[in-house]
Amino acid sequence: MQLSKISAGNFHDEKIFQFQLSNGWMKVDILSYGATIMSVEVPDRLGVRQNVVAGFHSTEKYMQPHPYLGCTIGRFANRIAGGKFAIDGRTYQLSVNEPPNHLHGGHYGFDKKAWHVINTIEEEDRIGVRFGYVSKNGEEGYPGTLQVTAAFTLTTANELHLQYTATTDKATIVNLTNHAYFNLSAFQSLTIHRHLLKLNAAFCLQRDKHQVPTGVLQALQDGALDFGTAKEIGEGLRLLRDENGIDHTFVIRNYNGSLIPAAELTENISGRKMKVLTDQPGIHIYTANFWNGQLRNDDEIPFEKHGAIALETGFFPDAPNHPNFAGTILKPGEVYRSTTVFKFLNAED
Ligand code: GLA
Repeated sequence: MQLSKISAGNFHDEKIFQFQLSNGWMKVDILSYGATIMSVEVPDRLGVRQNVVAGFHSTEKYMQPHPYLGCTIGRFANRIAGGKFAIDGRTYQLSVNEPPNHLHGGHYGFDKKAWHVINTIEEEDRIGVRFGYVSKNGEEGYPGTLQVTAAFTLTTANELHLQYTATTDKATIVNLTNHAYFNLSAFQSLTIHRHLLKLNAAFCLQRDKHQVPTGVLQALQDGALDFGTAKEIGEGLRLLRDENGIDHTFVIRNYNGSLIPAAELTENISGRKMKVLTDQPGIHIYTANFWNGQLRNDDEIPFEKHGAIALETGFFPDAPNHPNFAGTILKPGEVYRSTTVFKFLNAED
């Protein structure tokens, strides 16, 4: 196990650091700016280690516009209708950065903040780093000063653990996630059409024309989005037909607040596979529907439409406006906690 800390520039007054975590089999790079997963290098079936997430080597590129590559999303992931919600009868108006809605924490969400380093983690079976960020009362319209931590830990079992906590001094809403995009072929295939996806879900959230949940749960059985048994993503996309791609929240079966399997992604040519476990009720799947090849990685590989898949675990979008969705209100004295595990293995395992 090896952990290194590299100076990676500045953002305003805050120093940026890059952490490299290696367990001998795989290697993960994490950037404090945006609490971002920059790269996840995993061996293919021949032992060739390549990066399976969309990202860059340099800090500067993360400060240019990009579609949330690898970043931590907050204070509230995905959309809030009209940017409005109420707590105890008081209505709050958040910034509207994707009219008419609030998306991914607003104009300057947690993805565009310089997180500070709280500590590194060096134990026998895991190494990692924990970042902190203080989101001020009123930031992007959210009530309460929120103290957030995000820890990224690599274990000897080839698991990357993402753990978040948050506390507040005034009732607010919280829903954190990571927006890493995976292509297990390491972008040797320019789309994820041939990746096999399996989801531990029997329902997804019905959406309105602005992609906000209506509150209705849609049964998936035998439909385009039924990934109950592993299926090629391309097949799902073909069946969806008129739609751009998958940009849906799936309801994780048997959610009970403990860590349970949510998804499995396999790419048979490289022989790479990953499992996603979470203690959250939902997983939002997004197949990079708006990528158009203009953005490229450091090897000049273009990020094409359907070039990768984001598996964003968390509460449901717009949950504060749906009494039938699990609650996202955090009160003073309470601790918000969320854990997600990305486990990497060989396709045969
Ligand atoms: C989420 C949203 C998408 C899109 C991406 C980022 O997955 O649901 O519509 O905004 O993030 O580009």
